[in-house]
Amino acid sequence: MPPKLSFLFLILLLSFFSPTPTFSASSSSSFSPPDNYLLDCGSPKPTVLPDGRTFRSDPQSSSFLSTPENVQTSTTNISTNISSSSLYLNARIFPDQSTYSFFISQPGRHWLRLYFYPLPHPLYNLTAAVFSVATDSTVLLHDFTPPNSVVPSPIYKEYLINITSDRFSLTFIPLKNSFAFINAIELVSAPSSLIPDSATAVSPAGDFSGLSQYAFEISYRLNVGGQEIISKNDPLSRTWLPDVNFLKIASAAQNKSVSPRIVKYPDDGGVTPLFAPNSVYSSAVEMAESDTVDPNFNITWELTVDPSFSYLVRLHFCDIISKSLNNLYFNVYLNGLMGVSSLDLSTLTSGLAVAYYRDFVVNASTASNGMVRVQVGPASGDNSGTPNAILNGLEVMKMSNSAGSLDGLFSVDGSTIVSRSQTSATKRRIIAVIGLVMGIGAMLMLATVFIRWQKRPQDWEKRNSFSSWLLPLHVSQSSFMSKVGSHHHPFGSHRSKSGYSGFFSSTLGIGRFFTFAELQDATRNFDEKAVIGIGGFGKVYLGELTDGTKLAVKRGNPQSEQGITEFQTEIQMLSKLRHRHLVSLMGYCDEQSEMILVYEYMANGPLRDHLYGSNLPPISWKQRLEICIGAARGLHYLHTGAAQGIIHRDVKTTNILLDENFVAKVADFGLSKAAPSIEQTHVSTAVKGSFGYLDPEYFRRQQLTEKSDVYSFGVVLFEVLCARPAINPALPREQVNLAEWAMQWHRKGLLDKIIDPHIVGSISPMSLKKYVEAAKNCLADYGVDRPSMGDVLWNLEYALQLQEASLQPNLPEDSSSKLINLEALQDKGASSGGGATIDEDCGTASVTPLFNQGR
Ligand SMILES: *[C@@H]1O[C@H](CO)[C@@H](O)[C@H](O)[C@H]1NC(C)=O
Ligand SMILES: *[C@@H]1O[C@H](CO)[C@@H](O)[C@H](O)[C@H]1NC(C)=O
Repeated sequence: MPPKLSFLFLILLLSFFSPTPTFSASSSSSFSPPDNYLLDCGSPKPTVLPDGRTFRSDPQSSSFLSTPENVQTSTTNISTNISSSSLYLNARIFPDQSTYSFFISQPGRHWLRLYFYPLPHPLYNLTAAVFSVATDSTVLLHDFTPPNSVVPSPIYKEYLINITSDRFSLTFIPLKNSFAFINAIELVSAPSSLIPDSATAVSPAGDFSGLSQYAFEISYRLNVGGQEIISKNDPLSRTWLPDVNFLKIASAAQNKSVSPRIVKYPDDGGVTPLFAPNSVYSSAVEMAESDTVDPNFNITWELTVDPSFSYLVRLHFCDIISKSLNNLYFNVYLNGLMGVSSLDLSTLTSGLAVAYYRDFVVNASTASNGMVRVQVGPASGDNSGTPNAILNGLEVMKMSNSAGSLDGLFSVDGSTIVSRSQTSATKRRIIAVIGLVMGIGAMLMLATVFIRWQKRPQDWEKRNSFSSWLLPLHVSQSSFMSKVGSHHHPFGSHRSKSGYSGFFSSTLGIGRFFTFAELQDATRNFDEKAVIGIGGFGKVYLGELTDGTKLAVKRGNPQSEQGITEFQTEIQMLSKLRHRHLVSLMGYCDEQSEMILVYEYMANGPLRDHLYGSNLPPISWKQRLEICIGAARGLHYLHTGAAQGIIHRDVKTTNILLDENFVAKVADFGLSKAAPSIEQTHVSTAVKGSFGYLDPEYFRRQQLTEKSDVYSFGVVLFEVLCARPAINPALPREQVNLAEWAMQWHRKGLLDKIIDPHIVGSISPMSLKKYVEAAKNCLADYGVDRPSMGDVLWNLEYALQLQEASLQPNLPEDSSSKLINLEALQDKGASSGGGATIDEDCGTASVTPLFNQGR
């Protein structure tokens, strides 16, 4: 062969074997489910989640329900802004057995996702409900009751069910004298290839087939070595959690990640992005210090499970660490048993960074210690490349048992595995009679409540809050004071349900009156591009006056009768309150029956955005302390400074806003209530406020004191320390609620482990101790045991001093004379009610140094 020709041949040969045509690199593969039932049970309106999916309202889904006349809806509202949690805000309650039936257009695997949250209800104590949930063939929950905890947590259950007919039913079966409830249901087709029929069995080692016969409950789904993946970023709306909390020895492992674009999926369709998105495969955990001489250890993950079931364990691998092929061989163990010996990804996938998974069945007997343990470690032998081992993703799914149950030993027809068969017909008859009696009882109670409701309309709060959404607000005191001018007169006496026109008269002296035309100009005629916040009631626009002053313009929907009260409340509250650490009103507009409130723009937005969930740079510990101190001052003023005392009711990190100098201001008073007077000790009201911040006492007794704000502020303090949301329903149950979780770690003396890694190294231990003590005291179960905001403020000031002292090189923090003075000061402050000495920034001459502004 002439040289030129052989060269050409070589090129041809190379292009033939080049990997490009063999892999599809994109993650564009999407899936549109033939069946897609999304129900927000008990909700009067459809609900749109942040991931774009729309859940049907309760009226839209009643046709699926076979016993609507027996059931009753609870719609207690709790405002919130965490992802997917809007599904937990309503529930449907079933005093009697009730069934949802769905038409199935394409039989096969379906996701079934159930959302439970025991909302407060005037008739039913949902935390005490006991019920079972079953499909036609599988028991999903047996005598389920919400886990007993001080503050109820949302409960999320995810199943993968093989549906074989064109009908699917989901039945809620209350225990005798109890009732069932549900907050939301998803029934959505899954791709048919998602769960192949066979897997590798580990005990005895061999093949396991017949997986299509089983129902699965998803116990864990982890993005190993990576971050949480939210439903929006998964083609099948799954959530993947980080694995750090399940690593047995964290120091044995290290993270490795590459750009997700590098990940390839094999062209044979064996693995597609539907199995796991490329963001799962692009991150991995590998052996720490694998380059030291002959490392020989395993990386171990331990996941707590119910030992009476078998589990399908899916491991995801993608070799993103090797520089060349045939250099990585490792062993995979499940519960101490060999799963794969010398796994050779190069050979299996013919490439680097190619997605691969392997399914294993771990049976009940080998999980008898209540644990699924996954280990990877380097294969031994001569030709075993660089010793290392990796794992990219891990899913653990509980398999239904021989009774067709995922919870307990009873099957759908009531028989048990040990065939202790019951006479279920008589049982059913008894249940029917009880159901009837309970139904009548419930109707009587309902009638009573209805009468009460008619009599006392103000006790039943409206669902849509004018203010339960983000408000970037700020006002500069000087401009406000000059604008208020002379027409100052309180309008509290004007307040009445029918007093709409009287109330909105422009002579009220509550800030400047803006004309509608002026606000149209400022917001470029309410341009959609100027929207900086959206809520159930309307939108917030960024506006700019001709003189360059920036404004946040909150425009309510004039049709909404519900908003008027909230609008009034907010104007009334704000007009009475002036403080450096409270946002205040610049003015309002009520022309053409508009309801518009105008605030100055808060340049740095909500505190939460500086903690997590956005890409803003992390803020230092000192800054965090100063922000908390500012917010505490604002709340302290609310509680004690105003004539009557005000309870904020919705203290959370999105209601603490930061101006251009990171000065914290408390926002959003639409939910506020006047504090109880001396003879009353509490304000009785329907539960309002935000998930994860709610005072457990308030929750239990629906009674409000200023100590409810103190509790919420304690949650804020931990959120600031740990940089995670107050509630994250996607986490394992013990981690969902930040307040409970942080207290657990604190009791173990290991709080360091959950502190925001950006700041953990820079906090002085004494400052941390003081801060945590303050936060912990705020979270006391009973209001009487909690400190006042003044005390909290003192402790935070002290924590800041300790932090600053620790930064001074010549002043070892434990012997600082400055600190001794502070101790003395603190005692003095406590005895004088925490008043005059703390607040240096309230400026000018006034009656009480702490609360001078605007009085
Ligand atoms: C690995 O990544 C996770 C998620 O980003 C993180 O929480 C964890 O701290 C990292 N581990 C190490 C050892 O850096
Ligand atoms: C890794 O784990 C397996 C199973 O638990 C065990 O048999 C093996 O000895 C471990 N390897 C090392 C190096 O510790």
